[in-house]
Amino acid sequence: MTVTTPGQPSGPAAQPFDPAAARHRPDPHPLFHRMREHAPVYRYVSPASGRVLWYLTRYADVQRALLDPDVGRQLDRLPPGLAAPHRRAELRDPLAMLRRNVFHLDPPDHTRIRRLMAPAFGARTVAVLEERVHRVAGELVDGMAAAGGEADLIRELALPLPVLVVAELLGLPPGDRARLRGWSDEIVGSGDAGRVRRAGLEFVAYANERIDERRARPGDDLLSRLAEAEQAGGISRAELVSSVFQLLLAGDETTVNLIGNGMLELLRHPRQLDRLRARPELIGSMVEEALRYNGPVGHSRPLYVLADVEIGGTVIPRGDVVVPVLLAANRDPAVFPRPDVFDIGRSPNRHLGFGHGAHFCLGAALARLQAAAAIGALVRRFPGIALAVDPADLEWTPDLFLHGVRRLPLRLRLEA
Ligand code: HEM
Repeated sequence: MTVTTPGQPSGPAAQPFDPAAARHRPDPHPLFHRMREHAPVYRYVSPASGRVLWYLTRYADVQRALLDPDVGRQLDRLPPGLAAPHRRAELRDPLAMLRRNVFHLDPPDHTRIRRLMAPAFGARTVAVLEERVHRVAGELVDGMAAAGGEADLIRELALPLPVLVVAELLGLPPGDRARLRGWSDEIVGSGDAGRVRRAGLEFVAYANERIDERRARPGDDLLSRLAEAEQAGGISRAELVSSVFQLLLAGDETTVNLIGNGMLELLRHPRQLDRLRARPELIGSMVEEALRYNGPVGHSRPLYVLADVEIGGTVIPRGDVVVPVLLAANRDPAVFPRPDVFDIGRSPNRHLGFGHGAHFCLGAALARLQAAAAIGALVRRFPGIALAVDPADLEWTPDLFLHGVRRLPLRLRLEA
């Protein structure tokens, strides 16, 4: 076991790798390969906050961190002195009031809330939504065909679909979708703390109204189920509002980027696109490969080290932060033969694109369904589909957490 060596860089100036830098966003993989090779457990001092963040790029280490009970999510499990720098960073988060949800909680609170939510994500829900998701994806693609010529895949198809599915799951009225979309866009895209906070507060007021309605007139949906649990004392109002909020965000931008990144990789790998056309039944494994090769979530939520842990031969001290980089784990040659090859028939494909362990994505089945429906419909409808821009000109999200393009302009020829 190696203990953290004094020779490792201690200040931002000396750092050999900068995983937080926006310049790596269009193609972060060369950097991750270098990090995995030279510093797989990499100590990075955030220039913004001065906090120590340990980036993990090996599959085994990422898995290990996501399973370790000494690596957690709740700051109140650290003594005040060690928690202070993180608390300052969290205070700068304009949505700090919406953190009482499964993403940010450890057992027992995590277990309690996840149990309340899980039944709504089972096979029955997916079966009920399946026909509808395929129909809506087909209609959106028809709309793109009617407009003809060129279209932005993100705006015309990837954005409208997930908000509809999450709203349906929660039982929110279809008429509310535009407002939900607006808040999500403000929160993810505005880059302005004041606007983000305002959107968050508007959402809180909206969610409180809808929860009260459901308590008065329950239906057969997730929100009614959670409102009932609130009445029975199983979940607090703050936890409920925060959970609804997180579902909207978790189910929205991630799915948008899976549809966008997946279609982009097919277009960058025309032989794989031809293969999918010849064998449409490969759509399921194509979606898995899109999640592995260039998935929409760069890293899991950063985790707090609650007791000194040894990961990959390095001791990480209590109080530091660990960042399991899912995108990097998914290209680890120790697990995936020829990791940089995009192979829509890859099997086995045990990627970590939906996370791992107790926080494994609750919406995975819904996400798979939507991506398969959207990409499948596009490929069937437009035999001559092509990128309308040079891939080098695509604008990627600046943050590594959500990994995707803001626009994906396509040429939509009906002929091959
Ligand atoms: C958790 C990925 C879509 C709901 C997660 C995690 C990942 C992930 C990596 C674990 C995060 C962590 O450990 O910090 C994705 C991807 C998606 C997707 C790649 C789409 C392509 C969805 C959808 C929903 C959803 C559609 C719901 C409608 C959740 C929830 C959690 C979660 C509730 C938290 C589970 C927990 O903490 O116990 N997702 N997600 N996700 N996801 Fe997804």
